[in-house]
Amino acid sequence: MTRIISPSLLAADFGNLKAACELINASEAEWFHIDVMDGTFVPNISFGFPVLEAIQKHCTKLIDVHLMIVHPEKYVKRFAEGGAGMITFHFETVENPSEVIAQIRAEGVKVGITINPDVAVEVLEPYIDQVDMVLLMTVFAGYGGQKFIEESYQRIATLKEIIDRKNPDCLIQVDGGVNDKNAPKLFASGVNVLVAGSAVFNAPDPIEMVHRMLKS
Ligand code: DX5
Ligand code: ZN
Repeated sequence: MTRIISPSLLAADFGNLKAACELINASEAEWFHIDVMDGTFVPNISFGFPVLEAIQKHCTKLIDVHLMIVHPEKYVKRFAEGGAGMITFHFETVENPSEVIAQIRAEGVKVGITINPDVAVEVLEPYIDQVDMVLLMTVFAGYGGQKFIEESYQRIATLKEIIDRKNPDCLIQVDGGVNDKNAPKLFASGVNVLVAGSAVFNAPDPIEMVHRMLKS
């Protein structure tokens, strides 16, 4: 089973983005998670294209872009040009998910779709065979450092049942409150990609933390 750690840039030292990239490059993390927030879909604003371009310059890992923005379809091309290897958009932000999925794919980028914890997992069923990944948010999108919502395990099980039936190659990612304590149970539940911001960047040794989460 695929097991990947995708550390989130949101918890890194923004005064030294190059060092954050070098840290991730040196670690066993295969992906680098980039959270884009617009202050409209979520209350918080994070960063945009110039930061992504700086990351692209220094990062050797797959750039895993999580869009928490309205009208993601307007910006797909620029995120692809900015080096995204995976673009994940929120189901809640688009009128026609299939169109946005096709648009991302046309840029030669892998596609993810995601929902907040208050949206029923079943709404994603019609799109499962069109995407490379489903991200189940395990906190409400918008901020790093929140507590993992324990009810998420039931949602993961529901999603896994749909994926096994409709598209077994589709990856499951979770994001929010993930750490070395819950990583083993999440992997055992069938999750393939763990996003972790504070757990990795606030650890005394982030490289060791990535290793610990992966081997747990
Ligand atoms: C939250 C973001 C997350 C965030 C996770 O809206 O999507 O990627 O960085 O942060 P932690 O791992 O600290 O919960
Ligand atoms: Zn995220």
